[in-house]
Amino acid sequence: MSTKDTLTITDNRTGKTYELPIAYGSYPTYGAFIKSADLRQIRSSEDDFGLLSYDPAFMNTASTKSKVTFIDGDKGILRYRGYPIDQLAEKCSYLEVAYLLVYGEIPTAQELAEWSHQITHHTFVHENITKLMEGFRYDSHPMGMFVSTLAALSTFYPEAKNIQDEENRTKQVYRLLGKVPTIAAFCYRHSVGLPYVYPDNELSYAGNFLSMMFRVSERQYKPNPVLERALDVLFVLHADHEQNCSANAMRSVGSSHVDPYSAMAAAAAALYGPLHGGANEAVLRMLKEVGSKDKVPGFIKEVKEGKGRLMGFGHRVYKNYDPRAKIIKKMADEVFEITGKNPLIDVALELERIALQDEYFVKRKLYPNVDFYSGLIYQAMGFPVDTFPVLFAIGRTAGWIAQWQEMLSDPEQKIARPRQIYCGHDLRDLVRPKYKK
Ligand code: ACO
Repeated sequence: MSTKDTLTITDNRTGKTYELPIAYGSYPTYGAFIKSADLRQIRSSEDDFGLLSYDPAFMNTASTKSKVTFIDGDKGILRYRGYPIDQLAEKCSYLEVAYLLVYGEIPTAQELAEWSHQITHHTFVHENITKLMEGFRYDSHPMGMFVSTLAALSTFYPEAKNIQDEENRTKQVYRLLGKVPTIAAFCYRHSVGLPYVYPDNELSYAGNFLSMMFRVSERQYKPNPVLERALDVLFVLHADHEQNCSANAMRSVGSSHVDPYSAMAAAAAALYGPLHGGANEAVLRMLKEVGSKDKVPGFIKEVKEGKGRLMGFGHRVYKNYDPRAKIIKKMADEVFEITGKNPLIDVALELERIALQDEYFVKRKLYPNVDFYSGLIYQAMGFPVDTFPVLFAIGRTAGWIAQWQEMLSDPEQKIARPRQIYCGHDLRDLVRPKYKK
């Protein structure tokens, strides 16, 4: 930058002026920042704590510098390690993308073979995990089982708490990427009372997951290649999304130096919520409730009256079409050719058509997000609605790991501990309230 990179602040309480340095990320137009800690020198008196910035929900606060994922929400851009999401979705497998996220570069053929081998050979879970899972009620939500089972993994690998040991960390990365699909599939099989299907190491990452979900009595399950590829692309599209609610949970909990299984259970719990990864499930329930195209205008009217949200629309960062939704929308046709059309797609298309013309949604820059179409594909492929957030979690595992590793190796990071603005009572003496009749 040619001009002076500083910010001058005058505190009108004291008349004092401060000059704070402005720094930049890789994008000067996007990543200019001041350090919040620099505000602390701004004080109204000697015993003043110093000025804080107040930012509930992190609307304008960067919690980290990161090299993993870039999003330009106004332009609808998403890149992992600099590569556009559409190129990755078209040309790479999920395991390649996972390697890219974790290590920063596309793997060579040899690196990919070793990476895939290691992950494939960590897909089995300890038999006691299956026993633990049997303890869940028959109608437990798969995501509740998933979160708890992830947390339980920490008890099987106590050495995982040596998070400063790189070799040990790598082992946990293989285990996490390997075991997450197995646990996800077991959650589903448990919820429908089917026996668990153990991993098949001959199959691809997505193919093996389909086998563990849907195999019945075949000697060897042969996944449909179109559906196998579609699922793999969905994993790629969900693999990371910079500092979202669950990545923030992974980093925040991980910053206490807990083991990665516990940190990831926290991340998965954050993902469970309907405003985050639970939205794909909520979209399907909403589409079912709307039921048919002719009911769409009435439903949109209710949303505008504040009687609910158009699930799968809107995003904290994207104020344009989510690039992942574009790819998924295109892929839906390929999947429907194999599975038959999901009848709810017509309701979704009509909702999108009407909403994108409606002043309410246009003014607020509300566009379809990744969850708007993904559920329709999952459902057509035979996944029950309540397994959708679990499918999201499988893909997102790579991103959580990449964010966690980056946080641990960043010398500027410490235990995450936000400040607060205290608005409660001043000091008061304790007097018990009198009993009222
Ligand atoms: N339907 C109707 N109105 C909406 C929607 C929606 N889906 N999303 C936002 N709005 C409105 C809000 O009511 C608000 O209107 P107002 O200014 O008149 O009060 C305005 O748009 C801004 O909304 P906020 O909630 O302040 O935006 P925020 O950035 O906090 O929320 C979020 C983003 C949570 C994603 C929101 O858009 C939402 O709830 N969407 C539906 C749930 C969803 O699809 N979540 C998945 C997100 S993608 C992911 O996590 C993978």
